[in-house]
Parts: sequence; structure tokens; C-alpha cells
Amino acid sequence: MHRVRFQKGDDVWEMEVPEGTSLLEAARDCDAPVQTLCNGVGTCIQCRVKVVDGFEALSPPEALEKDRLGNIFHITRERMGCQAQVCGDVTIEVLEVRLPARKKGRFSKRPRRN
Ligand code: FES
Repeated sequence: MHRVRFQKGDDVWEMEVPEGTSLLEAARDCDAPVQTLCNGVGTCIQCRVKVVDGFEALSPPEALEKDRLGNIFHITRERMGCQAQVCGDVTIEVLEVRLPARKKGRFSKRPRRN
């Protein structure tokens, strides 16, 4: 079992998980606010988290995660919660959700005509 600690500001969520548990699964189990829109399929990137301590205690990023996050994940220390699996004690910072920019389209606000 490995200790996973999530923190966001002054809030902390902590639990023990078996090896191979994803950070997203661990977050769900302890009610930490790691977000998902794709339910862990690996397409939304809403599960992005920052590793505060124990970067080497997570499974190495595979092609999908490198493709989504880019090659600077070792500098930003960000991982995708649904892809990173726990293999040691880690401390994780929960990041704010980045929503996609809104596109202007046919439903965009237009001035009213009188
Ligand atoms: S939960 Fe959607 S990419 Fe990880």
C-alpha cells in the first residue's frame, strides 16, 4: 500500500491505495476534487494534476500522456490523473480546471434590433 496525499490550498485529502491505482481512482476514493469529463479515457485532460513530491513514485508517462501534455511534463511536473499509476508515496496538488475557450458561432450574442 502507498500513501497518496492530495492538496488544494489549505484542503488535504489523504489515503492508502494499492500499487497500480491511478491518481484519478485514488482521488475519487477520498473525494479529492480531481476533475474528469471523459471518465478516465484519456481525452479531456481535466484530470491534470501537479506532482509536489514523489514524481518517481508514479508510473512513467506513456505515449498518450506525452501526446496530451507535451514533452515538458518533467519540467512542469504535471501528470494526467487517469494515466499516472501509484507505485510509491506521492503528494499531489489539485489544479484548477481549464475549460476550453468558447468559440464564437451562430449562437454567439448579437446586438438586438428594434
Ligand atoms: S480523465 Fe479525461 S483525460 Fe484523464
